Amino acid sequence: MRLQKYMAKCGVASRRKSEKIILEGRVTVNGLVVKELGTIIDPNKDIVKVDNKEIQIEKNKVYIMLNKPEGYVTTLKDKHSDKIVLDLIKSIEERIFPVGRLDLDTSGLLLMTNDGDLAYKLTHPSHEVPKKYIALVEGVPNNKKLNRFRKGLKIDGRVTAEAYVKIVKRYKDSSVLKISIHEGRNRQVRKMCEYIKHPVIKLKRVAIGELNLDNLEIGKWRYLTEKEVKYLKKL
Ligand code: URA
Repeated sequence: MRLQKYMAKCGVASRRKSEKIILEGRVTVNGLVVKELGTIIDPNKDIVKVDNKEIQIEKNKVYIMLNKPEGYVTTLKDKHSDKIVLDLIKSIEERIFPVGRLDLDTSGLLLMTNDGDLAYKLTHPSHEVPKKYIALVEGVPNNKKLNRFRKGLKIDGRVTAEAYVKIVKRYKDSSVLKISIHEGRNRQVRKMCEYIKHPVIKLKRVAIGELNLDNLEIGKWRYLTEKEVKYLKKL
């Protein structure tokens, strides 16, 4: 992005006024004074200061829902994978980040925002919102196993909180489960299914609280509506 456009977006001044400020030598990029007007900067990497104060676009809060495909990592950078979820949201200028995580091999609803307070609240163990998943698992679990799943299983040395699970489709060697959990432990659904000896074949998150993926296509994203943002903030 051109430096003066970035400054305007950060609310420093209009683009024209920003040009003047640049020419006055009041702007640094990564510590170096920049006086050229066409200078291109990367809002995600470069540190821009005006009168020695860092500027940022972030004042504009954005809230996004992504239908994450399998094969994308939810970290912002990854040495072992060249596919990161940010690659799917190219046109956003704000520095957004994922709220919580989904495994590399899990698809579905991922929230992304630059609102650190909300992200913190949504992922804090004491606030955990119910998250709904659809899981294709090996075999068809019997009632005893389903009840174990519901009541709590010991994974990683700790018993899981009450969960919801229901069989929605039975095949010969597999079944589709609807699952809802309100904790966010590492690979929790996979570990719970493994515990009852019905390992996950495919996993998709379809809802976080009242926010649903609905018919958002895989790999696509949309802004949350005002109503959805209000709902999340009220949780
Ligand atoms: N549980 C899992 O096992 N994986 C996810 O990605 C999310 C929940």
